[in-house]
Amino acid sequence: MATEIINNNKRKSTGFDVNKIRADFPILKEIIHGKPLCYLDNAATTQKPQSVIDTIVKYYTSQNANIHRGVHYLSELATKEFEDARTKVKDFINASSEKEIIFTRGTTESINLVANVFNKAILKDEDEIIISAMEHHSNIVPWQLIQDQKKIKLRIIPIGDNGEIIFDEFIKLINEKTKLISIVYVSNSLGTINPVERIIEEAHRHNIPVLLDAAQAIQHIKIDVQKLDCDFLAFSGHKIYGPTGIGVLYGKEKLLDSLPPFLGGGDMISKVTFEKTTYNELPYKFEAGTSNIADTIGLGTAIDYVSQIGLENISLHENEILDYATESLLQIPELRIIGQAKHKSSVISFVFDNIHPHDAGTFLDFEGIAIRTGHHCTQPVMDRFNIPATSRASFAMYNTKEEVDVLVKGIKKLIEVFN
Ligand code: ALA
Repeated sequence: MATEIINNNKRKSTGFDVNKIRADFPILKEIIHGKPLCYLDNAATTQKPQSVIDTIVKYYTSQNANIHRGVHYLSELATKEFEDARTKVKDFINASSEKEIIFTRGTTESINLVANVFNKAILKDEDEIIISAMEHHSNIVPWQLIQDQKKIKLRIIPIGDNGEIIFDEFIKLINEKTKLISIVYVSNSLGTINPVERIIEEAHRHNIPVLLDAAQAIQHIKIDVQKLDCDFLAFSGHKIYGPTGIGVLYGKEKLLDSLPPFLGGGDMISKVTFEKTTYNELPYKFEAGTSNIADTIGLGTAIDYVSQIGLENISLHENEILDYATESLLQIPELRIIGQAKHKSSVISFVFDNIHPHDAGTFLDFEGIAIRTGHHCTQPVMDRFNIPATSRASFAMYNTKEEVDVLVKGIKKLIEVFN
């Protein structure tokens, strides 16, 4: 059934009601510098619905115990809640088994995990890793850290003026030394949605595994890892309405099985003697030490919340906000949008000729508008576009067209004051 928009923000057939959703997020009622909060920094972190906050309070109030260790009631309860969260993540991305879901601190740790175990088990001098020119630092620096130990090469897929990767150049970078293609699904500074299906298909024609940095995709795009056939997928809980400090590394079971552990310690072992230690089965082999139990369970609740609304509905709404914001911002002659890819997610980076992004961010803050300014941990993207920084508005399921209007009004005031 086609979805019809009524009353500006309400969808008749799907029941998507942005006002109802907003009511679930207590922070959205905050008054900042005397103005209602207009939160447009969702690519940095999303706000949390009451259900996620309640889950964490409930855990520490009545369920707290260490997991996988005790025979007592609370330990078994905490273990069940924790493992239930793993199943929710598995179902959410359609992994084939819980063994493929490794909990980490976030996307950064997930990528570092893969870099470290590839370094230990696979990479040799002269091997190559392909990344793109739009990577977050967290998909650049872990590979550079390996370069301190081994002579591996980073090959960079270039991007065009519109902020899309140049696919033909990507194909030219593949050779027999390529050991992994590690690429961002959605750029956090340009909003570009990369053609990951084509990248994976091309990589697999050469038997090269692919890691997807899905930090900015997981909350906007329905991901089915089996259908995508990616080998690894990394994301963070806090970008999908869950807590900070919890993230996921998905990996194909066979691949994870063949790789050595990342960190050593409790929970990841099967038997320890001073002579020899054997490791636990998947996924525990990659989860050393006491896990971030409360936030893992909180992530499970966030996934329940998103699933109940439906990612398809969320992305329909966000795309409308993105289109409306893009059209509105394009009407401002002093403003230039950086990143005009054909397929974009809900991120808009922009610059002004005469106003530094930090001044813009500070000015808008006093209007109650939260945006991010800076290089967004993508300094090579800034270099590519010959700019020091951008201002960035990024949208989530609870944003409205009225908030876009508030942003536009704030920017017009900014231009008036600074010019
Ligand atoms: N990587 C996050 C961002 O883009 C923090 O803001």
